[in-house]
Amino acid sequence: MRGLRMQRVLVTGAAGRIGTVACALLAEHGARVTALSDVAPPAGFPADRVVVGDTRSEADVAAALEGADLVVHLAARPHRTAGTPYEVYTTNVVSTFNVLAQAAGRGIRRAVVAGSINAYGLPQNDHDLIPAYFPIDEHIPRDISDWYSLSKHNDESASRMVWRHWGMDVVTLRFPHVNSAAALAQVAQTHADDPRSGLREAWSYLDTRDAARAIALGLIASTTGAHALFLAARTTSAPYRTEDLLDVFAPDAPRLRRFPGREVPMDLVPSQVLLGFEAHHELELPTLDLPGGLAG
Ligand SMILES: NC(=O)c1ccc[n+]([C@@H]2O[C@H](COP(=O)([O-])OP(=O)(O)OC[C@H]3O[C@@H](n4cnc5c(N)ncnc54)[C@H](O)[C@@H]3O)[C@@H](O)[C@H]2O)c1
Repeated sequence: MRGLRMQRVLVTGAAGRIGTVACALLAEHGARVTALSDVAPPAGFPADRVVVGDTRSEADVAAALEGADLVVHLAARPHRTAGTPYEVYTTNVVSTFNVLAQAAGRGIRRAVVAGSINAYGLPQNDHDLIPAYFPIDEHIPRDISDWYSLSKHNDESASRMVWRHWGMDVVTLRFPHVNSAAALAQVAQTHADDPRSGLREAWSYLDTRDAARAIALGLIASTTGAHALFLAARTTSAPYRTEDLLDVFAPDAPRLRRFPGREVPMDLVPSQVLLGFEAHHELELPTLDLPGGLAG
């Protein structure tokens, strides 16, 4: 990733799960990383500049943006339970507006933002909804009933506004569940025992190392405008054939194509075409028959 060499990249939420791995990868590819975090990163953190501050603060973000060429915005309350509804919603939308508007206002040309699969609203929905069709894609109808999903949906609108007003190109990565291989193996066990629990996320997942690589690819991609892209590993986190899962748990949802083996029922083509992204780290799971007892 030669395009990152000597680029000053501001990473917000740098000390978090995805940020830690992303900062290391960016530094490995020659970027000079400024880490903005509300908690001090540990000694030896892969950033040559650290700003301890709040992404909601105009002054803190202005200080962190000094000298920046590119921005990666990850700081957020990452779940509907990560604070009160007010804290989750306002932290996320104020931070995203503040970081993107200040970056664009200073003439920075490109940002990558951590979006979420939750922008379409179903995974954390209060109601027992089933996606309108498979694969889940950029046109999937939304139904939002929680403040976290609303914040991620509104962040995408903020990104479009920033592009339209200032012309800064933005790539929003609609991450599915992102975690270490060990933690994802536990999710896979949950989906083996209770496969329906993964339905509204299309049993999608991404290894943290792949999330970091998608961020780096987003920074060097040649896309213009504001894009929001689904991305995931090519396979599901359930040890069953995808067609069997859909037959049992979403029999009435139209399928726009077939899903051989454990192929994830999510449209990965835009992230492949626009970013050149394909996951490198997949769960090694068997492909089993769906036990009859789980189908109820
Ligand atoms: N991990 C996932 O499964 C997942 C899935 C979809 C989307 N995302 C998104 O990816 C991003 C990173 O997620 P993560 O899993 O690394 O979460 P994380 O909680 O590990 O990291 C987020 C970091 O942001 C920091 N932060 C929060 N509010 C801040 C503020 N006001 N000012 C400065 N820093 C602040 C936190 O201290 C934390 O270090 C988030 O935007 C999250 O919504 C994560």
